[in-house]
Amino acid sequence: MPDYETFERDVLVIGAGGAGLRAAIEASAAGVSVGLVCKSLLGKAHTVMAEGGIAAALANVDERDNWKVHFSDTMRGGQYVNNWRMAELHAREAPDRVRELEAWGAVFDRTKDGRILQRNFGGHKYARLAHVGDRTGLEMIRTLQDHGIHQGIDVYMEHTILSLLKDGDRVVGAFGYERERGRFKIFRAKAIVLATGGIGRAYKITSNSWEYTGDGHSLAYDAGAELIDMEFVQFHPTGMVWPPSVSGILVTEGVRGDGGILTNKEGRRFMFDDIPASYKAQTADNEEEGWRYCQGDKNARRPPELLTRDHVSRCIVREIKEGRGSPHGGVFLDISWIKQKLPNSAEYIKRKLPSMYHQFKQLADIDITEQAMEVGPTTHYIMGGVRVDPDTQMSRLPGLFAAGECAAGINGANRLGGNSLSDLLVFGKRAGEFAAKFAKENSLGEVDNDKIETTAREALAAFERAGNENPYQVQHDLQEIMQHSVGIVRNENEMKPVLDRLKEFRDRANGVRVIGNREFNPGWHTALDLKNLLTVSEAIACAALERKESRGAQFREDYPNKDEALGKVNTIVSKAADGSMQVRLEPIQEMPDNLKQVIEENR
Ligand code: FUM
Repeated sequence: MPDYETFERDVLVIGAGGAGLRAAIEASAAGVSVGLVCKSLLGKAHTVMAEGGIAAALANVDERDNWKVHFSDTMRGGQYVNNWRMAELHAREAPDRVRELEAWGAVFDRTKDGRILQRNFGGHKYARLAHVGDRTGLEMIRTLQDHGIHQGIDVYMEHTILSLLKDGDRVVGAFGYERERGRFKIFRAKAIVLATGGIGRAYKITSNSWEYTGDGHSLAYDAGAELIDMEFVQFHPTGMVWPPSVSGILVTEGVRGDGGILTNKEGRRFMFDDIPASYKAQTADNEEEGWRYCQGDKNARRPPELLTRDHVSRCIVREIKEGRGSPHGGVFLDISWIKQKLPNSAEYIKRKLPSMYHQFKQLADIDITEQAMEVGPTTHYIMGGVRVDPDTQMSRLPGLFAAGECAAGINGANRLGGNSLSDLLVFGKRAGEFAAKFAKENSLGEVDNDKIETTAREALAAFERAGNENPYQVQHDLQEIMQHSVGIVRNENEMKPVLDRLKEFRDRANGVRVIGNREFNPGWHTALDLKNLLTVSEAIACAALERKESRGAQFREDYPNKDEALGKVNTIVSKAADGSMQVRLEPIQEMPDNLKQVIEENR
């Protein structure tokens, strides 16, 4: 075997967004050596696309808030297929994680009396999102990066992991390559934390940038971990739709939290037309009350634009399909209307939503203080991911932990906005803590040289092939079919053929040819991403077919209602001994009485 450069660390964290950074900080604070692998540059993470805030029941703006209400909101938003223990830990621990971030230097917006300001977001009963204008994720990454950099963490930027290495059942390392030069590297570690984020690049329209190709999901699955609830893909209701070059870029929910309204081409606020029974009591039935809610009136109910994302996205799709959309295939999101209410509205909008103001000015030549935006759903997040123990975040493979978007459980069928940033902090910390503990209790294992050789050979095969299949074309075709057939509205007739098409895509991916050499070769990187994209696409399609009902982010035209029995199960995807993908339904563990009572009290 060639003499690949080898690194040894107690804990290796793969992924350097909010969850990865928080895990690395915690593990390092526990006194173990930590390596942090980033696919891109440190600081460039999808975390920054959670713009509007961190959900935590600090009760700074509304004293009625507490962890129990947050827990109940999260479970209702996830339509009760969430892992209730994770939802409980998350709601209980999020406030401490936010205060800790503040102590580490995060510069939050403030209430008049100097506390962390919180804003409204969909599905949250009270103003709960601690924020920094509309740049909260960015501030979170900046803070964690600044804090982490002084802890002696070794950072490997622009590295991609191609496979996990096992010693028996235990995960003991990772094999990957440095993207600039194409050199292979071996990372030996006593424990590994996957924090690679999401899968957005499996879809054509997405808020995710190029890194989000389901790497952690696929690495874990290949190594023998289980994936859970992969059918639940979140389409954020508001991405840009025009011009085409920026389609999918996120327009924060904070716009609606601060008073923005959704209208169709007839000028109608169509969100009033369809308010789900479970949210009726909490939702305003007139414009005036919705506005008062956005201005902090505690007796007012939320506007229908702040219903959960799954519902808002479907309403938007309905308007577009029925011919009431905007000129470029979206609907209108208008915050400029508030000039009827506030004399200094332009100043208010620029202060609350500075990035949105600049984004639309620069990318679409729209002044959002004067004009409506055109928006439509964009693939933003996956609720499904690596199945982990709720307390420790360890997968079923000893030594393999996962946190953040690539892990699953807390969000159930639909994530509430802002719960991702708190999830990253709460479970990133837990993953780091328990990975460090595991590392202290175990020695370095033996890495599997055959696995390394096979992975290296497969990675280089694309340079030697005679064919002319283009990796970008395969990715493009995959994105088209996932968007069209396993998107917001699904049915069996469209999804079943996808499984055959995926086999075809796999054959095409195995025939991809890359020209040039290993240095600075984006075509090669794309060829290597295809395997992960195909794995997560298959997992999504299989799980979506298996769940024969509509729940949260999964809407099936052929099964438009909820099925009570399916509300008590999770879908589990795993790799069979023959290499095929298996999907099964597994009952959710019964919720303890004290938590049932919390939900009852907060209905
Ligand atoms: O709309 C947003 O700012 C996104 C937040 C989130 O995904 O949590």
